Amino acid sequence: MILIDEISSISRHWDQTLTTLFKNDPGRASRFVAEGAGLRLDYSKHWLDCAVLSKLVDLLCTSDFLETRASMFAGDRINTTENRAVLHVGLRGKSTDNFTVDGAPVTPSVIQARNQAYGFAEDIRKGIFVGATGEAFTDVVNIGIGGSGLGPLTVAEALKPMIDGPKLHYVSNVDGAHLHDVLVTLDPRTTLILIASKTFTTQETMHNAAKAKQWISNVLGETAIAEHFAALSINVEAMRSFGIADTRMFRFWDWVGGRYSVWSTIGLSLMIAMGPEVFDRLLSGAREMDRHFQNAPADHNIPILMALIGIWYRNGFGLDTHAILPYEQRLHRFPAYLQQMEMESNGKRVDRAGEPLDYDTCPVIWGEPGTNGQHAFHQLLHQGTMVCPVDFILTANPINTDHESHSLLNANCLAQAEALAFGMSTDKVLEKMLADGWSRSDAIRLASHRTFPGNRPSSLIMMDALTPENLGALIAAYEHKVFTQGILWNINSYDQWGVELGKAQCNALRLGFESGDASKFSTSTQESLKWLLEKKY
Ligand code: F6P
Repeated sequence: MILIDEISSISRHWDQTLTTLFKNDPGRASRFVAEGAGLRLDYSKHWLDCAVLSKLVDLLCTSDFLETRASMFAGDRINTTENRAVLHVGLRGKSTDNFTVDGAPVTPSVIQARNQAYGFAEDIRKGIFVGATGEAFTDVVNIGIGGSGLGPLTVAEALKPMIDGPKLHYVSNVDGAHLHDVLVTLDPRTTLILIASKTFTTQETMHNAAKAKQWISNVLGETAIAEHFAALSINVEAMRSFGIADTRMFRFWDWVGGRYSVWSTIGLSLMIAMGPEVFDRLLSGAREMDRHFQNAPADHNIPILMALIGIWYRNGFGLDTHAILPYEQRLHRFPAYLQQMEMESNGKRVDRAGEPLDYDTCPVIWGEPGTNGQHAFHQLLHQGTMVCPVDFILTANPINTDHESHSLLNANCLAQAEALAFGMSTDKVLEKMLADGWSRSDAIRLASHRTFPGNRPSSLIMMDALTPENLGALIAAYEHKVFTQGILWNINSYDQWGVELGKAQCNALRLGFESGDASKFSTSTQESLKWLLEKKY
């Protein structure tokens, strides 16, 4: 593709380091900053200058980015392989908005579904809807996987101080240990179960839902199912045949992708635990970011800049991974959430027309909260042979904790970004070791081990505090980054056919665990199955 070829040809002429960039441009630290929707992106510690940035922006403008962004917001069917619109932005709409799909208004049904969920959440919170024995619900278990689990879980952890309703629990894995370890702590009489599944066919979720149904009915009887379950899905028939009462079905639409669904009724657990007002604040932050993404000029547009910088490293320099390091413990599931959002969206090998690509797409997204990672993988970030761009995420203020700890946390974060960017030369290391009293021979022997090459790029994504609004804006910023990269890579970011083969193979192999016959599979699989069955107690 010409655009990607251009990027790699520009990168071949790049010969500057972060040290020289800062030395030659005293205004750099304030020039390469973008602000919007409560976020501040400092991208000064990246391998770019004004000339590179403007070339990247020009390339974006030569793509079909502007038309496709307009098409997404207009509810056109930009998910061409599934023939669907991609309108998660419509889920953050207000009643005065006019989102449409295929020209038909959808905002009224979005507001109606949201209000139904809000009403139910309030009734649970107030103890109006109670369990079969008349006791109020103290615990809510959300059974769902992928976007239907990780989405609300990530938000619940991030906004933990806002929880003033029932306690939340999330079960995703088909490993029976997950459900067991949650249910063993709970009382069925005071537990509400939410089955969260867009399709209502996902094997793990339906398996866990059936087990949870048994758990409730063993103690409270079959008739309690209606009061102790609610479901969040687009599949009305399947919800009904599971035994969900019509008033306990919280619907959304096929134009909401699973990994973009936290804004829909998939957020019901959050509404119950934190209240509709907090959920509204989350939506309003995301909406602010939508406006920023639509209106800010490209060189001040946070998601666009994040996308361009990512492509610059991936296709210009062949960097394979990208780390997400939140210096905010409550964002501890955010890297995992972005793994799904970015890698399930943009981990593609054919273009929108189905032709194989001859350039790289999504890098490996990974990360952990700081400062924990500093005592684990930061060694590689500083001195390993590979360069891994980092997104540091940090807040000016703590919520419900002390400023002293928070300043220490932030000092660590800025120190990491500084050390990665500017390092410490062997000469400096030698000078310091000699000044500290080392013998010359030991100093010379050890200096290279203690040298930091520097020139390792990072962004600082900052906000005043981890409020619902700022969290909404942060998630939406990454959603739009993913969209923009998908356009530049000319791929469909909104399907996920890559998960299907494993599902089909599993369905066939499941039978093998009963019959012992896996003859349709490779000899490796046959031997492994045999070994597992032999060892089975
Ligand atoms: O992993 C595939 C996937 O379809 C994800 O995109 C989705 O978030 C997850 O499975 C769960 O799907 P559902 O909500 O239909 O159970």
